[in-house]
Amino acid sequence: METMFNKISLFKENQDIRCSLDNTILEATLTNHINHTHACGGQGKCSTCRVSVMNGIEHCGVRNEIEQEMATILNFPTEIRLACQTKISGDITIRRMVSDKLDIDIISEQFSEDSNSAIGSQQKLTIVFTDIVNYTAFAEKFPPYDIVHVLNRYYRIMNRVIKNHKGLISDVAGDGILAVFGIDCVSENSVLEAIKAIDEMKERLKTFNTYLKSNFNTSFGIRAGIHHGNVIVGPFDTGEMKKTAVIGDNVNYASRIETANKEFGTEVLLSEEAYNSVKDFYPSYNTFKTQLKGKTGTYNLYELKNK
Ligand code: FES
Repeated sequence: METMFNKISLFKENQDIRCSLDNTILEATLTNHINHTHACGGQGKCSTCRVSVMNGIEHCGVRNEIEQEMATILNFPTEIRLACQTKISGDITIRRMVSDKLDIDIISEQFSEDSNSAIGSQQKLTIVFTDIVNYTAFAEKFPPYDIVHVLNRYYRIMNRVIKNHKGLISDVAGDGILAVFGIDCVSENSVLEAIKAIDEMKERLKTFNTYLKSNFNTSFGIRAGIHHGNVIVGPFDTGEMKKTAVIGDNVNYASRIETANKEFGTEVLLSEEAYNSVKDFYPSYNTFKTQLKGKTGTYNLYELKNK
């Protein structure tokens, strides 16, 4: 019987090769002398043969047990496949994802990540930016030692509160905290959790202010901006500093909302998307129509009134 071949178009190499129904993608690329990384020799144990299927994912066979196990550990989206395990029934276009030693090093470290966001994913999360009212005046008055110590104390306390509400601090910068709620869907209503977290942060700030009053004769307040939308979540790693962080336009949006508090004399503002998630819990609100720096159009921001 005549052997059936399908076409694999290699995006990076700008080359088309043939692949029989019996061969894996990796077997086809190696046969065609493509320098396709396969550190474990095609055993499904290293993931260095991973490819992004840009077209024709429907022509890739269902993941076998070996590939499924790897895909679960690394939270692979549908289009990322192990070339050593995948056979095809039609034409596809792929992009090899591992090019060099540095790529292999990054991948090796993904196996030690405990988050299932190990390779990065797009998730719909609640993004919260907070900053400290009265921080600038404090920082102008006191030496670096005091500033660092007070901020570390503040971060430590607020981190506990945020974690209690299933949130994660993604970044801190000066007096600002960027936190996200709902990573990997651990929370049913992540906006609600974020609001509760901010309420508790304000409560904890009262005790913190007693400490500040007696040591520095000052006190802080908290302002926050809350938004709900898609962001890219990933483990970012400089080689020395590693963290789970979020990036994307919606992160900037939350930051702008936080800044808008100054304009309206408010403490906590929500975007329309965030408010829509909690409107049944908070039917009373003030609304402000505004433009946001770096964004076009006008936006409705919401300040919740007590229930
Ligand atoms: S070559 Fe190691 S998983 Fe495919």
